[in-house]
Amino acid sequence: MRVLFVCLGNICRSPTAEGVLRHKLAAAGLQELVSVDSAGTSDWHVGKPVDSRTRLAAQRRGYDLSALRGRQVCAADFAGFELIFAMDQNNLQHLQSMQPAAGIAQLDLFLRRYGLPTEEVPDPYYSGEEGFELVLDLLEQACDELVAELKGRL
Ligand code: 4NP
Repeated sequence: MRVLFVCLGNICRSPTAEGVLRHKLAAAGLQELVSVDSAGTSDWHVGKPVDSRTRLAAQRRGYDLSALRGRQVCAADFAGFELIFAMDQNNLQHLQSMQPAAGIAQLDLFLRRYGLPTEEVPDPYYSGEEGFELVLDLLEQACDELVAELKGRL
């Protein structure tokens, strides 16, 4: 099973989702069975480390995002991942517009797929510290649901 998280810049929300899911998969002993990656719809931060505010907020909860680097989503991702989860509606629309007919990937909003009351992970880039905490709160809840689903499927 291969899971790709997508946001705009690939330096805040989607790398957080990647780090949180990796951590929870390892805790569940599923890390060998699921591969996880993240990407941005833009090319603005390709090759760059995760935003320092995102990294620090994640580190405080035990998630190490220091090895992650930005990359842009590409057509090959639709053949390489079964699940592609967008952080917000703009990301989802962008993905839908580039989805090849032959791809295997299922696209969805990550929070909607896992039944959270809010469908979008708000972009924290121009927010204060509380925006980064909210991103973590939402992604931890959805990742718990995803790991529970994967436990039943794998
Ligand atoms: P992300 O956040 O999509 O969660 O990585 C953003 C990162 C950078 C910018 C916007 C959003 N930016 O405008 O550079």
